Amino acid sequence: MTKEKLYVFILGRKPLLSIAELLSHLSSSDILAVRPRTLLVKTKKLIKNPQMLLDTLGGTVRIAQVFERIRRPNPDKLMNETEKWTAVIKKMFKERFKNHATKIRFGVNIYNFPHPREILLKKLLNETKRNLTELGLKVRFVNNQNKNIQSVVTNKERLLSKNGTEINLILDEKYLYFAETIAVQNIDRYAERDYGKPCRDPRSGMLPPKLAQVMINFALLDKNGRKNKIQTIFDPFCGTGTILMEGLLKGFHMGGSDIDKLAAQYSRKNIEWLRKGYTISEKLKSKVLLQDATRLTDKILKEILQVKKMPHFAVVSEPYLGPPFFRFPEREKLEMHIKYLDSLYVRFFEKLSSILPKGTVVIFAVPAFQDKTHHVRMTNTIEKIKKLGYSVSDLIPRKFAKTHGIEMPDAPSLIYDREGQIVAREIYKFVQMT
Ligand SMILES: C[S@@+](CC[C@H](N)C(=O)[O-])C[C@H]1O[C@@H](n2cnc3c(N)ncnc32)[C@H](O)[C@@H]1O
Repeated sequence: MTKEKLYVFILGRKPLLSIAELLSHLSSSDILAVRPRTLLVKTKKLIKNPQMLLDTLGGTVRIAQVFERIRRPNPDKLMNETEKWTAVIKKMFKERFKNHATKIRFGVNIYNFPHPREILLKKLLNETKRNLTELGLKVRFVNNQNKNIQSVVTNKERLLSKNGTEINLILDEKYLYFAETIAVQNIDRYAERDYGKPCRDPRSGMLPPKLAQVMINFALLDKNGRKNKIQTIFDPFCGTGTILMEGLLKGFHMGGSDIDKLAAQYSRKNIEWLRKGYTISEKLKSKVLLQDATRLTDKILKEILQVKKMPHFAVVSEPYLGPPFFRFPEREKLEMHIKYLDSLYVRFFEKLSSILPKGTVVIFAVPAFQDKTHHVRMTNTIEKIKKLGYSVSDLIPRKFAKTHGIEMPDAPSLIYDREGQIVAREIYKFVQMT
């Protein structure tokens, strides 16, 4: 193996969003391969604090470091190959857990393997356990029902502590990679910020913190895909302040506003709560004002951002998306809502265009109305926004997608939805061009 380090990023439930997010942190030339749920990276740089990095990536579930790779096995004969894989794992254990007296908890995940995966994983786990016991080690594996381990179990079983390990086998075109997990998503911390914050408002809908992180990360690249040197982010429809909170955690000065008095208060209280329980530098500014986004002025925005001169900043926002629907609405009703939202968004972007410095990135979620038979998008509104002097950027560059065989939607946007959700979120990246 070369001196370069190989890392595998295990992607979340919405892989396209995860890939787009990672592109703001990784150099695309370092990315070797993108598979449905994994992204393989070769880099000379060591990831110094993988957990710290992962904690700000809403779309990645694990980071693992490759310790071995072997030739890709014949996919038709996988069941006959597990002994070879066990030997690799055994060697790793021999070095890592030399003279280890206490019980070792371990788990194995397999990615990009064809079905039936459970049978394969069962065989692999049993053989590994037998081999490790022969070495004189006391081991217990934590995989449940011969399935990959959920991140919550990795944390609960403390697999990343000195008495544990989690090994990932990643099948790729040329090789089978063996990678040890070095960071895992902490679901409890997300839940604490999502459900444990003092003020919630399910009425107007709240952004999941993970999606807020993803949207913030989208703002870190400029129009040409280069690092966007920003220190400040503005959310003009801040609601309960999810974007403001995640931005502060990522180290940005944050400014927010909302037309609703209660929402503005909620945001302030939630930020106060966050500052008490999390490590956030006192130097990071945050301010929330009561303000109609369609009536913003240069002066008000400077007041929100607490600056005298307009800085280079980004706008990241989930505006009002209309009422929640529990079944697909009648055409007339939907048209009425879309008309209202169209007017709100267009007026907002119109106002914004006279204030924003050229090149400012605006990450904006619009509703995508859908069920099994309907897919209604706000494409007319997007066209109107473009005419106001904004360009729309692909969240995953087409060239990169082509190189890695990533199947892309026709639109430059990406959708975040949940099973059965009628009002999904469609994320756009606009850049102010005038
Ligand atoms: C979907 S919520 C935002 C939720 C927020 N992302 C969160 O996680 O809590 C939309 C917000 O937009 C606000 N809003 C609606 N019209 C507005 C306007 N013209 N100007 C500013 N805020 C507005 C609503 O009061 C609401 O708080």
